[in-house]
Amino acid sequence: MIDKTEKIWMDGELVAWDDAKVHVLTHTMHYGLGIFEGIRCYETSEGPAIFRLKEHVDRLFKSAKIFLLDIPYTKEQIEEAIIKTVDVNGMKECYIRPLVYIGYGAMGLYPKGNPVRVSIAVWPWGTYLGDEGLEKGIRVKTSSFIRNHVNSNMSHGKVCGYYVNSQLAKKEAISCGYDEALLLDTEGFVSEGSGENIFIARGGRLKTTPLTSILEGITRDSMITIAGDEGIGIVEERFTRDEVYVSDEAFFTGTAAEVTPIRELDGRPVGDGKPGGITRRLQDIFFGIVRGENKRYKEWLTPI
Ligand SMILES: Cc1ncc(COP(=O)(O)O)c(C=O)c1O
Repeated sequence: MIDKTEKIWMDGELVAWDDAKVHVLTHTMHYGLGIFEGIRCYETSEGPAIFRLKEHVDRLFKSAKIFLLDIPYTKEQIEEAIIKTVDVNGMKECYIRPLVYIGYGAMGLYPKGNPVRVSIAVWPWGTYLGDEGLEKGIRVKTSSFIRNHVNSNMSHGKVCGYYVNSQLAKKEAISCGYDEALLLDTEGFVSEGSGENIFIARGGRLKTTPLTSILEGITRDSMITIAGDEGIGIVEERFTRDEVYVSDEAFFTGTAAEVTPIRELDGRPVGDGKPGGITRRLQDIFFGIVRGENKRYKEWLTPI
C-alpha cells in the first residue's frame, strides 16, 4: 500500500491527498491514452535532489508530441511544479509521478475538446525489486508476451496503455516464481524488462539493446555515459536471449529499479549467478551520483 503524503499538484493547485479525485468518465481511464514520468528524488548531504529532472520533463513533452497531447504548461512550469510538490510535502527522498491525462468530456475514441489535465504526486518508495534484489541480483523469466510492435505502440513515448503489456509479462513472471520479466521484440530479439532497460557484459564489454523497441531510459543513458567515462567499452546492438544465458553479467536499469543485477534468466545462472564486477562498479558509481557524493555528475541533480 502506498504511503500517503500531504499534497498532490492538480492542474496548478495543491490539493489534499484524499481530495485528488477525478470523474469515473475520465477519458484516459477508459482508453489508456495518458502519458507519465517516473522520477526519483534522493537525499544528499546538501538536502534532497531530483535526479535528471530536465531529461524527465523533456521526455514527458516528447511523449506528448508522439501522442498528440497539448500539455497546457511549459516545461519550466512543470519543472517548477515538481520541485514545489516535493518541497511542500517535506520529502527527503521520494518517487515523483507526473501524469498527463485526458479529462472528462466527450467519450469515444476522438475526445475533441476534452481538457488535457496534469497531476504530480510524490510518495516514499524504497527499492522496487527489493533490497536483496539490489544486493544479490534477481531471477528473471523470458516472457511469453511480446513487446508491442514498433508500429502498434510508440515505444519512445511513456504512455499509460503501454503498461498493459508490461503487466501481463510481470504477472506471468511472478506467478512462475520469478522476480521480473524480460520481453522480446516482435523479431525475437531481447527488448527490455517490464519497466527497465537491460545491459549485458561479455569479456569486459557492455552491450545494451538499441533504441528500436524500447523506452529511451534515462538511467540507461546515464549508464552509457558513466561506462564511457570509466573506459568500459559499450555497444548498442541487438542480442538474443541465449546471449544473455552465456553472458558474464547482466543488469536492469530504470528509475524504479535503479541498477539491479540479474542473477538468473530462465533457470540459467548469469555468469556465476552473482552480481559481477562491472555491474557492482556501475551500481556503486550510480548510487554515489544520486546521493550527491560524486561531483563529476553534479549537473544531473536538481536541489530542492
Ligand atoms: C518500459 C520501460 N523501459 C525502461 C524504463 C527505464 O527508464 P528510466 O531509466 O528513464 O526510468 C522504464 C521506466 O521508466 C520503463 O517503464
